[in-house]
Amino acid sequence: MSVFYVPAVNLIGRGVVKEIGGHIKELGYKKALLVTDHFIANSEILPKVTAPLDAEGIAYVIFSDVEPNPTCKNAYDGLDILRKNDCDFIISVGGGSPQDAASCISIMATNDMTPQELEGLHKSTNKGLPVVAINTTAGTSAEITINYVITDEERKVKMVMVDKNSLALLSVNDPELMLSKPAALTAATGMDALTHAIEALVTPGAYDVTKKLSIGAIELIKEYLPRAVANGQDIEAREAMVNAIFLGGMAFNNAGLGYVHSMAHQLGAVYNLPHGVCCAMILPVVEKENAKRVPEAFRNVAKALGLHTEGKSDQECAAYAISEIEKLSETVGIPKKLTELDIKEEEFDFGYLSKNALIDACAPGNPFMPTLEETIAFYKELF
Ligand SMILES: [Fe+2]
Repeated sequence: MSVFYVPAVNLIGRGVVKEIGGHIKELGYKKALLVTDHFIANSEILPKVTAPLDAEGIAYVIFSDVEPNPTCKNAYDGLDILRKNDCDFIISVGGGSPQDAASCISIMATNDMTPQELEGLHKSTNKGLPVVAINTTAGTSAEITINYVITDEERKVKMVMVDKNSLALLSVNDPELMLSKPAALTAATGMDALTHAIEALVTPGAYDVTKKLSIGAIELIKEYLPRAVANGQDIEAREAMVNAIFLGGMAFNNAGLGYVHSMAHQLGAVYNLPHGVCCAMILPVVEKENAKRVPEAFRNVAKALGLHTEGKSDQECAAYAISEIEKLSETVGIPKKLTELDIKEEEFDFGYLSKNALIDACAPGNPFMPTLEETIAFYKELF
C-alpha cells in the first residue's frame, strides 16, 4: 500500500493566478500573511497576485524578508507578523524559499514547536494554518510537497522537515508568472526539477504511479528546459516546465529523494549557493555510483531521456543517462566545478559537509548508503 499526498486543489495553466480570489473567497478565509522575498515584492509579479485578492475584498499583510536559503529567523519574523495581524491563512508567493518559509510559519502557528524540534519525519501534531502556495519558478515543487527546508543559521545546517501537516491547501502554477525569470535561475530550478524526477525514479521508494510521473517530468524537461533558458518569453516552454515540475513534484513527494539532495543541502547551507546549481553539479557524481549498484533502475531514466533501450544492457542505459544529464547541464550553463563559483578546495570543510550529508533526511531514500569516505570523495569530484 502506498500513500499519495497532493494538495486538495491545484490550479495549473496560463492565467490561473487571476482566479485565486474566487477560490479563497469560497474557502472562507479573510486575512492573509503574504510571504515572499524582496525580489518578487518589487517586481511586476506581486500586483498580479494582489489584484485578484483586492477584487474579492481579501485582506493581506506582506512579509517580504524571506532570504534565498530561508532561516529560522525568517520563520520567527513571519510568525510574529502573522500573530500581530490576526491572519487566518497564508499566501506564499515565490520559488522554494518563500514556500519553505511559509510552510514553517504555518506549522509553528498551530504547533508550539521550534524549527529544530520540527526537523525530521512528521514531527508536528496539528495541521498547519492553511496555505495558498503560488509558484513563480519551475523547479522546487515546494508548493505541492510535504517537505520544507529551513537553514539553522547558527549551526550552518539545512534542516529537512517532512511533514504531512505542512501540505498546502491550494497550489497555483501559472507559467505567465515565470516569463521574466532570468536564464540562470530558469536553468538552476529546471535542473533541480530534473534531479527530483531522477532521484524519485531510482529510489527504492518508487512505485508504478510515481515512476510514470517521473518519466513524464524527465521527458518534458529534456525537451523544454533548453528552450525556456534560451528564451524566457517562450510561453509554450514555460508551460511545459510547469507541467514537468507538477509531475516531478508529485513523484518525489510520494517516492522520496536521495543522496544528491543530501549533499546539495550542505553545499547550500555553508556557501549559500542556489539549490538547483548544487543539485545539478552533484547529480552525475551520485548517479554514476547509484548506477553501479542498481543499473536496472536507469533503463527508465535513459528511455525518458530519449534512448531506444531495446537490446541495450542496463549499463549502456546508465552510461547514456549520465552523459545526457551532463550534456543538459552544460547546455543550460551550469558550472562544472566549484572553483568557478569562487570556492577554494583548500578551504572546503569536506569532513563537516560530509558528516551532515550522512544524516540528512533525504539520505535513506538513496539506492545505497555511502560511507563518510565515499561522501568526501564525491565532494572532491566537484573540484
Ligand atoms: Fe530540490
